Amino acid sequence: MDIFRIQGGRPISGTVRVSGAKNAALPLMAATLLSEEPIRFAGAPTRLVDVQTMGRLLVSLGTEFTERRGGELVLTTPTIEDTTAAYDLVRTMRASVLVLGPLLARCGQARVSMPGGCAIGSRPVDLHLKAMESLGARIEVESGYVVARTPPGGLVGGRVVFEKITVGGTENALMAAVLARGESVIENAAREPEIVALVELLRAMGAEIEGEGTHRLVIQGQDRLSGCRFEVPPDRIEAGTLLCAGAIGQGSLTLSNCPVSHVEALVEKLREADCRLKIGEVNGAGIGEVTIDAPFRPRAVDVTTGEYPGFPTDMQAQLMAVMAVAQGRSMFTEKIFENRYLHASELVRMGGDIHVEGRTATIRGVKRLSGAPVTASDLRASASLVLAGLVAHGETIVRRIYHLDRGYENLEIKLSKLGASVTREAE
Ligand code: EPZ
Repeated sequence: MDIFRIQGGRPISGTVRVSGAKNAALPLMAATLLSEEPIRFAGAPTRLVDVQTMGRLLVSLGTEFTERRGGELVLTTPTIEDTTAAYDLVRTMRASVLVLGPLLARCGQARVSMPGGCAIGSRPVDLHLKAMESLGARIEVESGYVVARTPPGGLVGGRVVFEKITVGGTENALMAAVLARGESVIENAAREPEIVALVELLRAMGAEIEGEGTHRLVIQGQDRLSGCRFEVPPDRIEAGTLLCAGAIGQGSLTLSNCPVSHVEALVEKLREADCRLKIGEVNGAGIGEVTIDAPFRPRAVDVTTGEYPGFPTDMQAQLMAVMAVAQGRSMFTEKIFENRYLHASELVRMGGDIHVEGRTATIRGVKRLSGAPVTASDLRASASLVLAGLVAHGETIVRRIYHLDRGYENLEIKLSKLGASVTREAE
């Protein structure tokens, strides 16, 4: 198992490029099961462990997986050879459940291991299953697997009403509905940029969908979908994490390939914290340069996480690291997951003054954190500990870096390029 060894207190400056988005890439890859023709991706974050896991899962179902240089992936599934997503893969990555909709839509049946709980909460998949039922599927749970079957003739268009907004549930419903017979409507759909990216891919494959970026999606089912070429959008959470590196390191850094409009909620918070942010030229796809200049200790700000365009739960841990050294007291409220403060106790071990009660955390900024051995509990918690290590006095060792490798490509290389001292070592 790898660790990161970080020597704190090095100034942060320079330019760094944001990689392709993990949470967009995973559903985009699952959607390739819907066609027998090749789907070519550019800008895919191929080094991420989760992207590799999704690749292994697709190959186990019959996908031909070709990886070329520079993040190009070609995924072709001439026939589905197996409709089972096995426990061994699903237990390492919950997003494996995203093959449920495509398998049902294309083959009329699917057997997907039930994901268990995870470090950030219980994370059930009940809403995914209800959505499939609304499109005509029959669902049973047998020996730890969700067993789903369509009526003869396949899925039928229907009305999916999500009682709670779910990103993955909306993605599964969309991927099922594009091959269902007739019209489907998804109400209370998620509006996240990852949903918009999925709709754009499905449209490029020949699907008819309206309403992406709103809470109502209307889909006209097709008989078949074709191949296409698609660019994976840059990762808004990686971009946000790097902006937090600038803020915590009181440095000046520029992000290129930044999905500017997707990081607005964070940019607003960092401005409120007295960091200077400058948006450079932005292209038609909303991608451009963002510079953060943070010459002073940031000011404390309060945060409540929420669905897009609210403040992302996936940035809560990283901003908490920044607030741990801010001037004043911040209050965080986590509205999406019930147990997403595991990083707080590790930040306390580094000298942070943080008190968690239920879904609320109170952070009193301290002048200085001190380096310590800490253990990462999940992906974004790991990022938060790495950020804290950048400014802590002395050496920080972050254990269980495999969590970080699921969602950040070469983070230690990117941070080192910005002047930080972060090295990866085998434990
Ligand atoms: C996606 O997870 C992301 N993962 C998560 O990113 C992100 O934190 C989350 O959306 C929220 O933005 C991927 O895109 C691969 P949800 P997802 O369904 O789709 C409850 C990261 O760090 N719920 O929108 O699983 C659920 O428990 C990760 O990159 C049900 O109750 O999230 C949660 O409280 C972690 N029943 C809320 O809804 C269901 O059937 C939102 O979850 C589904 C969800």
